[in-house]
Order: sequence, then C-alpha cells, then structure tokens
Amino acid sequence: MHIAPSILTADFTRLGEEVTAAFEAGIRWLHLDVMDGRFVPNISFGPMLVRPLKPIADRYGAIVDAHLMIADPDRYLEDFAAAGCDYITVHAEVCPHLHRTVQQIRALGKRPGVALNPATPLSAIEDVLSDLDLVLVMSVNPGFGGQRFIPASLDKLRRARRMIDERGLSGVALQVDGGVNKDLIAAVRDAGATVAVTGSAVYAPGRDRAEMIADLQKALAT
Ligand code: DX5
Ligand code: ZN
Repeated sequence: MHIAPSILTADFTRLGEEVTAAFEAGIRWLHLDVMDGRFVPNISFGPMLVRPLKPIADRYGAIVDAHLMIADPDRYLEDFAAAGCDYITVHAEVCPHLHRTVQQIRALGKRPGVALNPATPLSAIEDVLSDLDLVLVMSVNPGFGGQRFIPASLDKLRRARRMIDERGLSGVALQVDGGVNKDLIAAVRDAGATVAVTGSAVYAPGRDRAEMIADLQKALAT
C-alpha cells in the first residue's frame, strides 16, 4: 500500500524540503489537497503549487495526485494536467456530467479519480467505475487536515474493495483520505485501501518527518 502524504499541514516556508524528506523516507506518492473555499470551507492552493513540486517527485519516480475539492472542476482540468499531475481526482458531488468529466481527464492523458464524501453512496460511481483509475473514499468531511477518522469509513472501504474486485478492475487504486494515522493505517489496508493519504500523521508541527513515516511503515509491518 502507498502512504501518500498530504502537504496541507506541511511547513510552507520550506515545502521543497518537506516533500524531499518524504521521498527520502521512501514515499512514492504525493497527495495535493486543492480547496476553493466554495465546495469546502477552506482555501488551499492551485496548479501553480503543483508545478515546482512535480520535478522533485520526478526525481524519485513518485506519483503526484491532485484531489480537487473545488466546485466546477471541469474549468481547471487542463491547468492541473499542464502542471504535471499524474492523477486528477474530482468530487462526484460537484460533477453533474461525471462521465464526461472523467473522459476529459483521460483525454488530457491523465489518470481520472472520483472522490466520495462520507455521506455519498458508492452507487454514485457504479456506472463510471470501469472508466476510473482511482476511487477516493473520504474518511473525514473534506476541508481541513487533522480531523478525526470517521469509523464507518472502514465498512465503506470494504464495500468499495468488493465493488472493484467483482468487476476485475485490478488497476483501480482505492484511496482513503482523512484522519489516517499509525493506529489506523493497518486497518484501512486490511479494509482494502491501496493508497492511504496521511496529512497530520506525517507533517505534524515540530515532528521529524522520517520518524513519522517510519512509524506508519512499522504499523504496516504488523
Ligand atoms: C480533506 C483533506 C485532508 C487531508 C488529510 O480535508 O484531504 O483529509 O488530506 O489530512 P489528515 O491526514 O491530517 O486528516
Ligand atoms: Zn485529500
């Protein structure tokens, strides 16, 4: 399973060093939380922050995925594709023409993902699942790092895993995002997640990044 740090709680005065520290500790997936202050209460950053981070990721052969917690994502697909994201994930809740949006991401040469908020049923992606490269099960209500994991997310992950496996879609990544820490990371893996987003469990103020990542890797070794 990939541990995918979210830079949301990283030290933005030295972001390059922060992501390099994660890659040096063996991380090969970076999760970028894009927020617009409309779909979610918080505002974070746009494609211009992806640009400088992508060459660092390339040096390590690491994946960069953009989690678009934004209204009307169709307007920005080209910008995030041009900025170098490997995966572009949109929220089902803001895509009335989700099948077309997924096709547009793929037409841009990128891997499409769809994210589901805690209250959004898996049925929302049932009819586009075979067109996806990633399903993101939100285990918090999106907008902020450092929130508590919603326990019902484990059952939702297990059902999503079953849905993907029943269709033989082995290439589809199952990502979980929100409140995942060293006490929960083995449980989300066992529930079927293949990518675990970890924000504050890596980028905690004043904590050593390599140590935090080692703690997560140790928890997965159980
Ligand atoms: C949605 C964001 C956060 C972030 C993870 O709000 O997507 O979930 O990635 O942050 P932590 O791991 O601190 O919950
Ligand atoms: Zn996210």
